[in-house]
This record gives sequence, structure tokens and C-alpha cells, in this order.
Amino acid sequence: MGAPPHEDGSSPHDPARGLELAGVGVRFGGLTALEDVSLRVPPGRIVGVIGPNGAGKTTVFNVVCGFVVPHAGTITLDGRRLRPRPHRLTRLGIARTLQGVGLFAGLTLAENVMAGATGSARAGFLSSLLATPWAAREERRLRTGAVEILERLGIGGHADALPATLPYAIQKKAGLARALAARPRLLLLDEPAGGLGAEEIDELAALIRGLPAAAGTAVLLVEHHMDLVMSVCDEIVVLDFGRVVATGTPDQVRGDPAVAAAYLGTEAITPDGTPGAVAPEETGTVTR
Ligand SMILES: Nc1ncnc2c1ncn2[C@@H]1O[C@H](COP(=O)(O)OP(=O)(O)OP(=O)(O)O)[C@@H](O)[C@H]1O
Ligand SMILES: [Mg+2]
Repeated sequence: MGAPPHEDGSSPHDPARGLELAGVGVRFGGLTALEDVSLRVPPGRIVGVIGPNGAGKTTVFNVVCGFVVPHAGTITLDGRRLRPRPHRLTRLGIARTLQGVGLFAGLTLAENVMAGATGSARAGFLSSLLATPWAAREERRLRTGAVEILERLGIGGHADALPATLPYAIQKKAGLARALAARPRLLLLDEPAGGLGAEEIDELAALIRGLPAAAGTAVLLVEHHMDLVMSVCDEIVVLDFGRVVATGTPDQVRGDPAVAAAYLGTEAITPDGTPGAVAPEETGTVTR
């Protein structure tokens, strides 16, 4: 792993490291939301964060996005110390979708995606202000790219519609399109399956699975939907009461007794992804 870390916790730049959280702690008043949480999302890998309600999943997401500042631990990107701020994520190659939809209500789907590509809600602002040929060309280029992404997600026909006029599943896809428009090297997804039907979740799974190969994008996936997590993730981090209780492949995590205890006391996640009784022979080893 090369040279020792610098004094501030960072190491020399190493693009193979990706995103790392080390010993991260978060408190909200007297409540410990995260305690000594370490995890890594290497380039091109899909890492899931699961755990019962209140386990700290969204807090992990918020720490990486810069919505929440931890009192302990370090966050590094490719070995370099990171102090994430929501408005600087695009520059770092990080994009996110939020729980729910979070589109700009006054912008069409295409304009929302253009905003994702530029990291600003003012796509089109420049050309309307300056009306220069350069600005007009730039806007056409952005729009073409935005429509292409919407088409890739099967919703190109809605490019000029406002979000509120469309079904929830289409709005969710547009949120994903907006995040992808930034061509992120790391995509953070908070409950992307929330509110979607089974068929839409299958489509989403295929899309997420294809991201590393198609665009070299790594994914940090916070999700309750076990089928989705188990089917797309290379590695899963299990949180319980703000602590990492298991880390491993889906198979390792599925049968782990600590995961069973975290979820239902005596039950674990069955092979079909639903919580249920776990047979002793199903338990496996898990790296911690
Ligand atoms: N801004 C906040 N202020 C105070 N407490 C918070 C805040 N955000 C989260 N918490 C608390 O921190 C703990 C972890 O919350 P978090 O939202 O990270 O859990 P989660 O695993 O995402 O849960 P869920 O599955 O219900 O979405 C919870 O006890 C929650 O009530
Ligand atoms: Mg949450």
C-alpha cells in the first residue's frame, strides 16, 4: 500500500484506493449515530450499506456528501484527505441521488439532467444571458447529452416534461440520469429502489450492475431492498447501532449470525433476500 500516511491521515495519491472511511464517528447531541465506521469503495466496485432502521446508513451517505461532518475519523479519496462539501462533489467526480426524487420542479427532465452535467441548476442561463454562438452551441451539446442519457434509461420521450406531470418511477429514473450526467467515478445512491415496483427494480439492478463496465463508475448503495443489494453488490457493509457488524460478499453476509442478530434477533436474510429463519449450515465466515 506504499508510503505511510501523512500527518493529516492522507497518503500519497493512489487512484486504486477509491473512497475510504476510517474510524468515522458521528454524534447528534447525545446520540451516537456512527462509531468507528471504516469502509472502502474501490474504483469500479459496487458496495452496499445495509442495516436495520436507524442503523446509520443515511448518516454514512451524508458524511460522504458533506451534509454531516464527523467528529472522528478520516475520509480519503484515492489516498487524499477529503472534507466533503455538497457543492464540491461534482468536481471530485462524485454524484448522488437522494432518498426520494429531488428533481428541480421548475425544470424539465432534460434541463434537470443538463444541470447534473454542469453541477449547476443554471444550465441554459448562460446562453439566455449572453446569447453568444458559443453559449448556444454549448447548450445544444448539453441538451444532446442529456437526451441521450434519458434515452439510455428508457425515458427519452419525457425529456421536455416537468417532473410533477410524470409517474414516480420516471421521476426516480430522471434523478439517476441527472447523477449519471456528471459522469461520476463514484455514484452514491440512497434507496434508489424506494417506491419502485418489482419490474422497475430489476431494470435498476441491471443498470447499476452495468455501471462499472460501461463507465468505470464505482457505486455506494444505501438500500433496504435486499434482493437489489444482494444481486448487485460486490461487497456489503452491515451496520447496527452505528457500528460495522459485518463486511463481506453477499453470500458471506447473508448467512452471518451477527447480521441475523442485527436484523431480527434470531433471523437472517434468506437466499431470496427476505428476512427469515437461518439454518446453521447457512452461516458462513465474514471478514470484519
Ligand atoms: N440530523 C439528525 N439529527 C438527530 N438525529 C439524527 C439525525 N440524522 C439521523 N439521526 C439519528 O441517527 C441515527 C441513524 O440515522 P440514519 O438516518 O443514519 O439511519 P438509517 O440506517 O438510514 O435508517 P433508515 O433505515 O430508517 O433510513 C438514528 O437514530 C437517527 O434518528
Ligand atoms: Mg436512511
